[in-house]
Amino acid sequence: MSVLEIVKYPNKILKQKTKIVRGITAETKKLIKNMIETMKKNNGIGLAANQVGVSLRILTVALPDENKKITEAVLINPVIQKKSGRVFEEEGCLSFPGLYLKIKRAKYVKVNAVNERGKVITIEGEGLLIRVLQHEIDHLDGKTFIDRLPVLKKLKTIREINRRIKKGNW
Ligand code: CO
Repeated sequence: MSVLEIVKYPNKILKQKTKIVRGITAETKKLIKNMIETMKKNNGIGLAANQVGVSLRILTVALPDENKKITEAVLINPVIQKKSGRVFEEEGCLSFPGLYLKIKRAKYVKVNAVNERGKVITIEGEGLLIRVLQHEIDHLDGKTFIDRLPVLKKLKTIREINRRIKKGNW
């Protein structure tokens, strides 16, 4: 296993829609293992494949439960089937180091996907896992959390990011 380099904004790969996974090969499995390793090493709770430079529709999550036990999940070709409600909470992103933004998301979501063993899985509900899944599925669609901001707030945020990049603080 190896820790991969995280692609940071404004790298173009983050703006491109990722490709559907057509078959789970040894290479796919290796990528998934490396994504989990990379996510944990960076204290991330979610990671999309394009954040490690691979434009494929794969995401990983790792969330601690009430007993601090980490639940890991791999979603290949995830599709949001249903969503409802609204929540407004703070998020971070490994591709935007040190930046935290309040983002509007659906409160309830139902997602279908395939796991790393090719089994169809459904995840539905509310809470942090559901928020992380929406954030990561956005990545797979070529969107980042700043794309969810109101337009003026987005422009202000981009200016702030550019300041940080210039200062070498990114
Ligand atoms: Co992110």
